[in-house]
Amino acid sequence: MNSTLKNIARRLLLFEPCQKYFVNHVSVESWPGFYGRALSIKIPSLIKPLPVRTAECGSNIKIIFKLIKSVAHLPGDMAECGVYQGATFVSEALYLKQHKISKALWGCDSFEGFDEAVLSEIALGGSHDQHKKIGGFSETSPEAIQELLGRLGIDDRVHLLKGYFKDTLPRLKDRSFCFVHLDCDLYDSYKTCLNFFYPRLVPGGIILLDEYNDPPWPGCNKAVDEVLNGKPEKLIEIESDNYLKYYIQRI
Ligand SMILES: C[S@@+](CC[C@H](N)C(=O)[O-])C[C@H]1O[C@@H](n2cnc3c(N)ncnc32)[C@H](O)[C@@H]1O
Repeated sequence: MNSTLKNIARRLLLFEPCQKYFVNHVSVESWPGFYGRALSIKIPSLIKPLPVRTAECGSNIKIIFKLIKSVAHLPGDMAECGVYQGATFVSEALYLKQHKISKALWGCDSFEGFDEAVLSEIALGGSHDQHKKIGGFSETSPEAIQELLGRLGIDDRVHLLKGYFKDTLPRLKDRSFCFVHLDCDLYDSYKTCLNFFYPRLVPGGIILLDEYNDPPWPGCNKAVDEVLNGKPEKLIEIESDNYLKYYIQRI
């Protein structure tokens, strides 16, 4: 197919009925890359293997899907803390819908980026990252994510909680969880989330830690090591395409 025809085909595929067709009939695991790029979401076909095995990497949607699948039979909700523009959150909602996993999915974020808590992260050192500043990751809106979820028809049982974790998580205090994706960068944020979610994890439930051993964000290691100190759980490694991640699985 020449490139003009290819472009026309791509534009047609982005019309709303085609998007609904993809959601309802084509597994996200086999969506073509341009579809993920057009919707600004992470999908497996967009993952390029890294040259060496490393934890210095962004989130990997194959790892997220694999862990969600492994705990889908357990009781409890699912959550992501650190949603930003929804690149992993929308894919998680899509995966749950396509695999008929009837669970509440909570997405927690200030949607205004980092507050002053980023200053104590900066004081811990770590390598440079352009987002390490007050207001880092503020170019987002929960309305835009909600609109995309609605357009794709994957918004049932999916909830966005806007605000800083210390203020929003108490609203979930009576719930339990089988999967939590922490992608929130800062020591303070990890500490708040781990202290909240660890006691609410069902046995076998998982907390995936996006920034463990990731050089720009040393606060993640500090918070995780402090919270796990004296607990029976040890960190577990998981790897895909040389992306190395760590998670906690509740005993
Ligand atoms: C790395 S981004 C998340 C990336 C996202 N998972 C993705 O797939 O693109 C980190 C997010 O964590 C949020 N965040 C960090 N600490 C927070 C806190 N204490 N309360 C609320 N949001 C927080 C930031 O606002 C930012 O949107």
